Amino acid sequence: MSDNPATVGGGRIERLGQWVDDRLGFSGFWKAHVSEYYAPKNFNIWYYFGSLALVVLVLQLVTGILLTMNYKPSAAEAFSSVEYIMRDVNWGWFIRYMHSTGASAFFVVIYLHMFRALLYGSYRKPRELLWIIGMFIYLVLMAEAFMGYLLPWGQMSYWGAQVIVSLFGAIPVIGEGLSEWIRGDYFISDITLNRFFAFHVIALPLVLLLLVVVHLGALHQVGSNNPDGIEIKKLKGSDGIPLDGIPFHPYYTVKDFFGTVVFFIIFFLVVFFAPEMGGMFLEHANFEPADRLKTPEHIAPVWYFTPFYAILRALPEKLMGVIAMGGAIGLLFALPWLDRSPVKSMRYRSVISKVMLGLFVISFLALGYLGLMPVTDFYTLLSRIFTGFYFLFLITMPWWSRMGSHKNEPERVTYASR
Ligand code: HEM
Repeated sequence: MSDNPATVGGGRIERLGQWVDDRLGFSGFWKAHVSEYYAPKNFNIWYYFGSLALVVLVLQLVTGILLTMNYKPSAAEAFSSVEYIMRDVNWGWFIRYMHSTGASAFFVVIYLHMFRALLYGSYRKPRELLWIIGMFIYLVLMAEAFMGYLLPWGQMSYWGAQVIVSLFGAIPVIGEGLSEWIRGDYFISDITLNRFFAFHVIALPLVLLLLVVVHLGALHQVGSNNPDGIEIKKLKGSDGIPLDGIPFHPYYTVKDFFGTVVFFIIFFLVVFFAPEMGGMFLEHANFEPADRLKTPEHIAPVWYFTPFYAILRALPEKLMGVIAMGGAIGLLFALPWLDRSPVKSMRYRSVISKVMLGLFVISFLALGYLGLMPVTDFYTLLSRIFTGFYFLFLITMPWWSRMGSHKNEPERVTYASR
């Protein structure tokens, strides 16, 4: 045995590590999912957003727990407890702004993450379930954000919730009863606030965490797609390792660390200099306490819901609007089966496919803008046109995705689009 105390100590720590590992098997997990998980070596900027979604998820959980320490979930105290956090709690403003900016950042990251899947056909076989789990995450995230927005008990919290919950009332026969059941009252009240608080701080985060674990499990089962949309597992060396794969650690841990630093620079610029983002992240009306007797002149949800809000308002009748809004999200679940293109990645798809995707992005952004605007005849007309295209894109995808001539996919991964 060595006399060197460092070696003796190191030996002990190693033995303790081994003792724990024999019982937990952490090193096996680390190898299978990190140090010997082979990811395609041509990941580009679009592949930052999965790990960033994880970073933002942790940020929201940590800042959320800290906020809960001083927040009061009651109609009488909620608004003033948020003011107390902002003015009197040490660093309270910082925690709150990180949480409110984090909510918007989450959706920015998730929309880019989803767009990447459209760009490279990442939802296609064998990743259909990965996509569907992702869609469930998206739904739960929307519910999480919606319920969180009621908690500050400002005017927009109150009236936004009022509008959205009353949408359930449009469902024939059971609608009215259903919205009353969701609210737990005849109107949005202290009871609603309490239950939304319970869902926001514990029930939905648990579901979200579980879904993210399953999402990553599904990803590691089938392996990552890549910007060329080819399967690296098809071409393996004599050692059984994909020729175009590199170990996730250290190569992608370093890459993702860099992405995280860049993300936080932008994130903190927003937190410090534009936390309200001109009323986009925190709406002006929400700095007034909720008042059941005073409807704000213009009710609009936060930006990440506005494309669907515009679809809702584009239809002349409430029930039709609700169906269209549900359909706009529901159809995305079917994407793996709607897309019939012979190649996965947009790099090799026909011009028709590229134009269609480009128009879809324009429509989605335009709907997002229109959902923020007050209703006028012209805006309603535009909303109808873009809603029409949104559905046209998805419903006719089985046809246009096969039309035109595509390029052949390469054998091995490449580093730039050709
Ligand atoms: C909390 C939310 C989410 C987290 C933490 C998360 C995390 C991740 C991570 C770490 C990856 C691997 C890295 C990457 O490909 O960027 C990934 C891949 C993927 N995710 Fe997510 N994700 C989330 C939500 C979603 C949503 C909402 C969708 C779609 C509806 C989705 C669809 C996908 C797909 C299709 C892949 C495979 C991409 C490929 O291999 O090209 N994810 N996700």
